[in-house]
Amino acid sequence: MKKLITGISVLVLMGACGKKDANSPGVEYMPDMYRSPSFETNMMTTLDGDTMSANMMPPAGTIARGYLPYPFANDTGGYSAAGRLLKNPILKSPEVLAEGEVLYGKFCVHCHGTAGGGDGKVGQKLPGAPPSYSSGAIKGLPEGKIFHSITYGKGLMGSHRSLLSIEERWKLVHYVQKLQNPEGAAPAAKDSTAAPAAEGAKATEEHKGEHK
Ligand code: HEC
Repeated sequence: MKKLITGISVLVLMGACGKKDANSPGVEYMPDMYRSPSFETNMMTTLDGDTMSANMMPPAGTIARGYLPYPFANDTGGYSAAGRLLKNPILKSPEVLAEGEVLYGKFCVHCHGTAGGGDGKVGQKLPGAPPSYSSGAIKGLPEGKIFHSITYGKGLMGSHRSLLSIEERWKLVHYVQKLQNPEGAAPAAKDSTAAPAAEGAKATEEHKGEHK
């Protein structure tokens, strides 16, 4: 009896495959689920009705939306050119400084410290702690160089190019300038016009007239 049942089931099962058309899948339950329309990946239809790859190279000389090429190379020449030529396109305002402060708290404070003294928790552990913003050459560092260093990184500081938009980097520049100049009220411009303070003298001298 057992054998008979097994024999019958085998026959029934084989029957499902036994169609003449070898490509026929046999009986399908809810065929819509198996047969979705298939589209070619990354193909698009042009206005003329042609199909072409949507992943073509952009035409030469065009710039992707939202992307601005950065013309200064990651070397000493690029660094000094950025210091000479780059100007902050964002006007300083209490709102901008507040945004700069928030960004600083997320991306910089752990190395540079709350007041920019180079004494952040991570900064202290580095083989060479970050310099204080308000001392030595950094105090007179032109805005273009600050932007350049945030963009590419410098020494043990990594590049923040992919982490911060151009706008965010310039907002941070305003905030760093505030820390460079903790006396506060004085606008950054004063640095280059005022008689250079003894400690920042050399750097300020070098970059005289570069930033207003
Ligand atoms: C991993 C720790 C670290 C982080 C994070 C970091 N820095 Fe630095 N930063 C350094 C060190 C170290 C230096 C000194 C680099 C050198 O001159 O070798 C430095 C230098 C600088 C300088 C001086 C650059 C120059 O041209 O001399 C500026 C300005 C600066 N950092 C701003 C920032 C800002 C703004 C952020 C946040 C977006 C930031 N840093 C994040 C470690 C860090």
